[in-house]
Amino acid sequence: MSVSPYLFWTLVALAAVFAGAFAATLSYALRQRVRMKLRPNFGKPPVPHVAIDVWDEIFRSTGLGPNRASEISFIGQAGALASINDTETWVLGALAKKARRIFEFGTATGRTTYVLARNAPDDAKIDTLTYLADGDDSYEFDANDPDAEKWRKIALGESRYDKFYYEDTPVAHKVAQHFGDSAKFDETPYAAQIDLIFVDGAHSYSYVKSDSTKALRMVAPGGYVLWHDYSPRCPGVFKALNELGRDLPLAHLKGTTLVAFRKPA
Ligand SMILES: C[S@@+](CC[C@H](N)C(=O)[O-])C[C@H]1O[C@@H](n2cnc3c(N)ncnc32)[C@H](O)[C@@H]1O
Repeated sequence: MSVSPYLFWTLVALAAVFAGAFAATLSYALRQRVRMKLRPNFGKPPVPHVAIDVWDEIFRSTGLGPNRASEISFIGQAGALASINDTETWVLGALAKKARRIFEFGTATGRTTYVLARNAPDDAKIDTLTYLADGDDSYEFDANDPDAEKWRKIALGESRYDKFYYEDTPVAHKVAQHFGDSAKFDETPYAAQIDLIFVDGAHSYSYVKSDSTKALRMVAPGGYVLWHDYSPRCPGVFKALNELGRDLPLAHLKGTTLVAFRKPA
């Protein structure tokens, strides 16, 4: 059977286009994995993906469904800007039930602060730190961070709140609001004091590194640190936690963008 030269060269061109597209996709995927500090050989990830009910006994299933130890006062995410999803709300609310000292990096609207305060014991204290942009250009950032300018703009966009969801509620007395740049925040008075820490401030690599170092100093024995937005869509968070996951037993909780660490008691 003879093939017309036209058909032959069309097939050759198509094969070349497909091979080129495949090579470009593979090369991009490999570079992404290297950039994110994942192993290019597709080996074990530095932050394993773990089901919530396997991760902590408070979420252990009874066979009929979630354990009632994880029952919380709940309000959904819909309508809250820059906040956590409903499963993440459940996880943080349930952990707050047994936390007397809580610290949050990044308040935004204060919806999560409210959920933490609603579920924490009556004598609990929640410290929450946020940045209030005052229109000047003094916000510090490291130009070497991945997409530094983009994440600086996002951080400043989320730094406009000076009224908060928990205000004028029956749990407002549990909350101490702090304003300032987390990089300049002195964590020494909180060292080894905090039962539950939520890291959700600036999302650039250098801030996540700095906030994480402080959080790990602040967490009490047996206490928890949780980070939000562990996803390639937040490359600074993703990279910082992948690096931390090489030294600490971190878990990426299924159905969430939360990464969790529990300090040994
Ligand atoms: C994603 S929002 C926090 C959302 C909040 N945790 C929630 O669940 O609703 C990020 C917050 O981090 C704050 N932030 C950004 N850069 C900061 C910095 N350098 N120091 C302290 N807070 C910062 C922003 O003002 C904003 O309130």
